[in-house]
Amino acid sequence: MGRVDNKVAIVTGAAGGMGKADALLLAREGAKVVITDLQLDKLLEVVSEITEQGGEAIGFQHDVASEDDWARVVDETIAKYGKIDILVNNAGISDATPFLDQTVERWERTMSINVTSVFLGQKYVIPHMIGGGGGSIVNISSIAGLTGGSGSGPYTASKGAVRMLTKATAVDYARYNIRANSIHPGYIETPMTIDMFKDEKMRQWFQSQTPLPRLGKAEDIAQGVLFLASDESSYITGVELPIDGGYYAK
Ligand SMILES: NC(=O)c1ccc[n+]([C@@H]2O[C@H](COP(=O)([O-])OP(=O)(O)OC[C@H]3O[C@@H](n4cnc5c(N)ncnc54)[C@H](O)[C@@H]3O)[C@@H](O)[C@H]2O)c1
Repeated sequence: MGRVDNKVAIVTGAAGGMGKADALLLAREGAKVVITDLQLDKLLEVVSEITEQGGEAIGFQHDVASEDDWARVVDETIAKYGKIDILVNNAGISDATPFLDQTVERWERTMSINVTSVFLGQKYVIPHMIGGGGGSIVNISSIAGLTGGSGSGPYTASKGAVRMLTKATAVDYARYNIRANSIHPGYIETPMTIDMFKDEKMRQWFQSQTPLPRLGKAEDIAQGVLFLASDESSYITGVELPIDGGYYAK
């Protein structure tokens, strides 16, 4: 018996990194996963990997900042599976441009991909969760949504917005048995951070910021996503879960 048997889950940004790890784990635990990303080729490889392992998955090319794309992905999911139980808003971008070199265009790009995406995902999925008697929304924020120390103002602001949008959603939709929680990854080895951690000195510095003596893996985050998506967390809503090797505890 899987921990999310027969649930239907949408996971964004699932062509690689954490989204891929989330999709693989949810599928292994019995969910039918609808995975989306801008990168269609890589996404379809993940679909194949899931089906080869005996899971069920479909993939859609999807720009999470586009309202039309959200409407299409949700419509197609309902047409195929008839319900949506789990939404994992994972897709996101980082931007380490120093604050005074930021432009309105860069700021708006970060906000649209990291925040408008979550707003749109919730807006299109929640009506179906209400119709289905409930659901679980897991929004991927960051330790940058908890502290000011990320070195990137717009990214930090975007992840702080995700944290508070999650809490507002948790309060507004609890009466429909819809839960919303945010996960706050620390320094995790994924395609997003590969260049940052390639340099040994940089790697050691990031590791030194984390009490547990290693960097995180995408699978560490997937375990938290699975728990918050499953009925095991049925009385947990509006919380922020750091998965960061103890970074935020300092
Ligand atoms: N890696 C870390 O250390 C770290 C730490 C804290 C938070 N996060 C957050 O975790 C999430 C996943 O990050 P990751 O490290 O796996 O990154 P990643 O770059 O490896 O994966 C992100 C995925 O999102 C997709 N994507 C980007 N823009 C998109 C768009 N407009 N529409 C659809 N898909 C889009 C990319 O194609 C990519 O496959 C992000 O929200 C990120 O901000 C990452």
